[in-house]
Amino acid sequence: MKINGRHYRTIWLDNDDPGLVRIIDQRRLPHALVLEDLRTVDDFCRAIKEMHVRGAGLIGATAGFAMYSATLAACGDDCNQFLQQAAAALKATRPTASNLAWAVERQLATLLPLETLAAKQAAAKATAQAIADEDAAACRMIGEHGRELIAAISRRKGGQPVNILTHCNAGWLAFVDYGSATAPIYAAHQAGIPVHVWVDETRPWLQGARLTAWELAGEGVPHTLITDNAGGHLMQHGKVDLVLVGTDRTTRQGDVANKIGTYLKALAAQDNSVPFYVALPSSTFDWHCRDGVREIPIEERSGDEVKFVTGVNHQGLDQEVLVAPAATPAANPGFDVTPARLITALISERGIMKAEEAEILRLYPEQQR
Ligand code: MRU
Repeated sequence: MKINGRHYRTIWLDNDDPGLVRIIDQRRLPHALVLEDLRTVDDFCRAIKEMHVRGAGLIGATAGFAMYSATLAACGDDCNQFLQQAAAALKATRPTASNLAWAVERQLATLLPLETLAAKQAAAKATAQAIADEDAAACRMIGEHGRELIAAISRRKGGQPVNILTHCNAGWLAFVDYGSATAPIYAAHQAGIPVHVWVDETRPWLQGARLTAWELAGEGVPHTLITDNAGGHLMQHGKVDLVLVGTDRTTRQGDVANKIGTYLKALAAQDNSVPFYVALPSSTFDWHCRDGVREIPIEERSGDEVKFVTGVNHQGLDQEVLVAPAATPAANPGFDVTPARLITALISERGIMKAEEAEILRLYPEQQR
């Protein structure tokens, strides 16, 4: 997507230095556009764990490039052992998004059988680039399918703006480009369909306030920032036509793990007959997982993220503020699971499907077993 007229992806290989991967440090947005260089597996692990990069698709793409960087450091007879250690370190960074393990396993399956280091390096680079390109292409297709959905609502409303509520950031910053939940919004906006987005601020890390609002402003999409608890009230008063969110892990029966608070939006949507759609590239399916509430590992993050709020002061300087008694214990589960029964449909690059195993497998027949 464009920043100040220049096209950016969220991660890319430097043209002049093939060992260098560049990212946008998302901790600094929206106040500063800071690019960061990643070279070593440690650099990549830190960037994922400390959320310089975040969002399921981008975490997967970052892990893909990390495995390429591991091949540049690996040498001698221990090469495969080194790659397996790098894979384990990467997989331990964040537990919930399935794209991370998916990208690492894809690299390992390609690299371990290859004989020479040169062959591993070439294959790792090609695979990392393919993971990133496929992510962008999948999100673009999600946009095409989702635009039709928004167009149909717009026709029913006689061309009045379609009010879409989204939670967290499933935008281009959470992927390599376009985003999952935002791709249909961008596609509709570009097609001249009037849309307006309610942006949940998304405590505690504020992905909505800091990232989604910034993205939508950059694309000129009308939007309004709301507190996380406002959605139910807006739905009761007919101010939400559609809830559209992303997912970090999707089970074969259609349960989704997404940013904490998503489940409550789905409950409110059902109570108010508001359609609730989830957008995802296929890489977020966990085909081994069926019951999301029981089986999906939920990341527990530091309670300090709840107790401290970070922003900039009037001078534009970063400032961290304590908003609770210093000694108060805080819990910070990063995700929750929305069961399939609360989801109207899933949108992937293959099309729109009900959140039911049979329907999902109709679009993914290769996952029958
Ligand atoms: O903790 P994050 O920012 O990595 O979590 C990301 C999300 O949960 C987003 O909601 C998104 O929908 C899923 S990632 C595409």
